[in-house]
Amino acid sequence: MNEFYNKDIISIKDYNKEQFEKIFEYTDKIMNLDPAARREICKGKTLSYLFYEPSTRTRMSFESAMASIGGNSLGISDISSSSTQKGESLADTVKIMSIYSDILVLRHPLDGSSRFASEISSKPVINAGSGTEEHPTQAIQDLFTIKKEKKKIDGLKIGIIGDLKYGRTVYSLLSALANYDVEVHLISPESLRIRSDSIYEIRKKLSFTESTDIEEYIEDLDVVYVTRIQKERFPDEEEYLKVKGSYVIGLDLLKKMKDDSIILHPLPRLDEISTDIDNTKNAKYFQQAEYGKHTRAALLGLILNENGF
Ligand code: NCD
Repeated sequence: MNEFYNKDIISIKDYNKEQFEKIFEYTDKIMNLDPAARREICKGKTLSYLFYEPSTRTRMSFESAMASIGGNSLGISDISSSSTQKGESLADTVKIMSIYSDILVLRHPLDGSSRFASEISSKPVINAGSGTEEHPTQAIQDLFTIKKEKKKIDGLKIGIIGDLKYGRTVYSLLSALANYDVEVHLISPESLRIRSDSIYEIRKKLSFTESTDIEEYIEDLDVVYVTRIQKERFPDEEEYLKVKGSYVIGLDLLKKMKDDSIILHPLPRLDEISTDIDNTKNAKYFQQAEYGKHTRAALLGLILNENGF
């Protein structure tokens, strides 16, 4: 039996390097399959999704991943059109979804929401973003992108820039990177520094610096991971306005970077990466979104097939 079979994906902390490498192996395998063979992997299986927060890529990449392996998807991305509007609880909605499908994908504004859903659901649950806490499949996609584009992860110098306080992709990525031998530089406005309580465990395994100055390490970085300032999570709009536009990666900054550095972003991008960068060889964020479809297809294939594919 494959070790991912019938398992939830709630936290990236539940995975080790060996497991990441196994997922990458299956992702490579799936990318090399011809479309007809790929469509056999989850033929007749159904994914259901429930998004209590906006999403473009995550939801569409799950849907497109599922279609590419022969399955189908159904779900709710506009909560105002669901029974939640009538007062139905998350628990009841999750129970119903697990009757209608083989696997559930949930995005919810509360930390712990996916763990809670997994305790109720009779089918595996994938966390597609839980509050400011985690976004594990994004981290798998981020690691895979680094591996593909830099041909390795160990030994790299990685800068993570932007909203480190509220950006859940950052916490999942840091936990994932803690399995590798990397040097991490965290760059954020003072008020958006990483939440120290949330990285208590990571700190023991990962060495990193914290700074407000993007120029400090920019020349040394192999990977520049940029994040959006998470406006919706600020308790006060005034506070958001103070940090809005703090960092912008433009052509002037790119000139200072290593020639073979790569720029990543979980997207959506606002103004933190100038569109002038999009056509440079360093910009890999759209490629990263494409890899997200394949890593998710591999994960679905592994969770839904006892003997892998
Ligand atoms: C991220 C998220 O939802 O946390 N989006 C995504 O899934 N790629 C990042 C963000 O919203 O800034």
